[in-house]
Amino acid sequence: MKKLFLGALALMGSVVPTWAGEGMWLPFLLQARESELKKSGLRLTARDLYDANQASLKDGVVHFGGFCTGEVVSHQGLILTNHHCGYDAIQTHSSLENDYLTHGFWAKNQKEEKPNPGLFVDFIKRMEDVTSVVLKNVTFQMSEADREAEVAKSVTNHLAELKKANPNYLYSIKPIYYGLQYILIVSQRYSDVRLVGAPPSSIGKFGSDTDNWMWPRHTGDFSVFRVYASPSGSPADYDAKNIPLYVQNPLKVSLNGVKEGDFTMVYGFPGRTEEYLPASWVQHAVEELNPVRIEVRKRLLGTWDSAMRVDPAIKIAYASKYASSANAYKKWIGVNLGMERTDGLQKLEERQKANGAAPDELNAALKNAAPLLTSRELWVEVAGRGWELGQLVTLVNSKDSPEQIKQAVRDFYKDYSPELDRRALKKTAQYWFNEAYRVNTALILPPNNVWDGSVDPLYTGILAQTEKSLALLESNFDKWLAEAKQDPAFLVCTRLSEWQSSALLPGVRSFSKSTATALRLHTNGFLQGSNAARMYPDANSTLRLASGKVLPYSPSDGMEYGYQTTLDGYMAKYIPGDYEFDVDPRVRALHADRNYGAYALPNGQLPVCFIASNHTSGGNSGSPALDAKGRLIGINFDRVWEGTMSDYRFDESICRNVMVDIRFVLWTIEKVGEAPHLVAEMTLVKGR
Ligand code: ARG
Ligand code: GLU
Repeated sequence: MKKLFLGALALMGSVVPTWAGEGMWLPFLLQARESELKKSGLRLTARDLYDANQASLKDGVVHFGGFCTGEVVSHQGLILTNHHCGYDAIQTHSSLENDYLTHGFWAKNQKEEKPNPGLFVDFIKRMEDVTSVVLKNVTFQMSEADREAEVAKSVTNHLAELKKANPNYLYSIKPIYYGLQYILIVSQRYSDVRLVGAPPSSIGKFGSDTDNWMWPRHTGDFSVFRVYASPSGSPADYDAKNIPLYVQNPLKVSLNGVKEGDFTMVYGFPGRTEEYLPASWVQHAVEELNPVRIEVRKRLLGTWDSAMRVDPAIKIAYASKYASSANAYKKWIGVNLGMERTDGLQKLEERQKANGAAPDELNAALKNAAPLLTSRELWVEVAGRGWELGQLVTLVNSKDSPEQIKQAVRDFYKDYSPELDRRALKKTAQYWFNEAYRVNTALILPPNNVWDGSVDPLYTGILAQTEKSLALLESNFDKWLAEAKQDPAFLVCTRLSEWQSSALLPGVRSFSKSTATALRLHTNGFLQGSNAARMYPDANSTLRLASGKVLPYSPSDGMEYGYQTTLDGYMAKYIPGDYEFDVDPRVRALHADRNYGAYALPNGQLPVCFIASNHTSGGNSGSPALDAKGRLIGINFDRVWEGTMSDYRFDESICRNVMVDIRFVLWTIEKVGEAPHLVAEMTLVKGR
């Protein structure tokens, strides 16, 4: 052991990772980071950032709908988040006459703010380490199953006690470091959240899929909401009598802008990262899973795109599906690019060694299970997510009531082309049954009696005949259901699911169960290692603080990207009538007049976006970007393409988060949306 440790130290000298920028820290543990943060430029104390008992910056950060982050910018509960986070709400309120997605929406007064049933925001009251409570009766000798049962018991008990003591809050306990530690999150949920404003999509979604995950970027990805509460100020469902929630400490908004090297922070709710996986596991994801995912989606998206380009109706019907499928597709490509450019796998290997970790057991287990895991991913991508008719079958098979099924089926057909689906499945099935298998003969394929891979017969039944199916659905649900259950697509899809559950799933489950203990020990190695002080738990949708610097970057040899974009660059991308790069006439006019109000840079340009080296992930969308004094300078919405690998390994050389400059947000609200009253609600600060 001692020898190993010395070896590790010797190695350390040559391979110390660059830690600056890396990390998404639990706010209640920031005390330990305070001096480091101050050295990097922070002008506040750890308690200014997070304090369970007194006012702190955390009071201005909310978990938006459970999937994004938002920030409070006025005493009257005004909230900023991303356009893509508010998208559903904006879409729901849009119609052909009031097309808010296209033209934007600005409530002229509070009466015009629009309720959104189901949408909520959570304020974090406090967080704490409850490891000793949760693991009270857990011993090292325990089997994984016994451990799980013990943990579940103490979690349930503790939550019940807390709820009893104060029923007004929400409580959850989450594992970190694969169950080495547990944290408690106490929050308060407000469920009357109203839409206040949104820019036109030509600002909020400018560049759409082409620019997604890319830099230089010119997207004004923001929208505006307001939290309402009962007249007494407590959380309440929508009621016309509700009033804007009074917030004691909204974030202040800075007009100072950023320059290279400036200290920045992002405060929000990143969803999922995997920084402590054995290098061999990441290698499997990068070299086996990602190529499979990428290839299937390339075929799917390519088929959709070819039809969307020539048929406007298909374009509308498939726009949203395309965007969400393309978001992950493009990210996987970026992850692999970044890994390659930074020698990521090699460096993970080195870091593992430097920590004295030799995860032989985990390597062996993965090697054994790899074909199974890849086979499952193929099933997921081809027969699960990628096959639309298959999703209809899943709807039919769901345990919902007839009314719910009917509504879901209607929604499904609204945006569906059987012909396009058939063409796409041909391409993806071809890959599944032939090409993927040719590359990796260890893959497990469905046997012939489950599905032989022939596609055309699956589109001969009622489910693939939209009009006929809908007519019968409305006139005689039972008959429709009976026919649906005889549909060739139904039969094949059902057999494929059963095959998946019996041939693949048990192996996948036993892989994760059998490796749980070893994975925990492996992670413990990092926590005991010489870099222990730099460890931070993987993202798990809890509140985190990341810090970094405003920095340019160079994604590959000969390419240099600056840290800020401007409206001139936005206009340079303008393609009249294009669905991704059109520009709103109001923006064109304001640009022509250089009407930038108080928001221009010293050189007369209007800033749009900027990048910095904060460690962020999915879920950080809408997060406040803060300066050294905790004032709002931007809204986080993306990462640069090659930097998306930071979910496995952060590398300061190319990992950058992308934010819309708050001055562009204010300009859009005031000048494009003509809603200066919203800006007037905020506390703007100018000067250092
Ligand atoms: N890439 C960003 C994220 O992961 C933005 C996604 C929304 N934009 C889009 N073009 N699909 O959420
Ligand atoms: N766009 C992402 C989101 O919706 C944030 C970008 C990222 O993954 O870093 O959360």
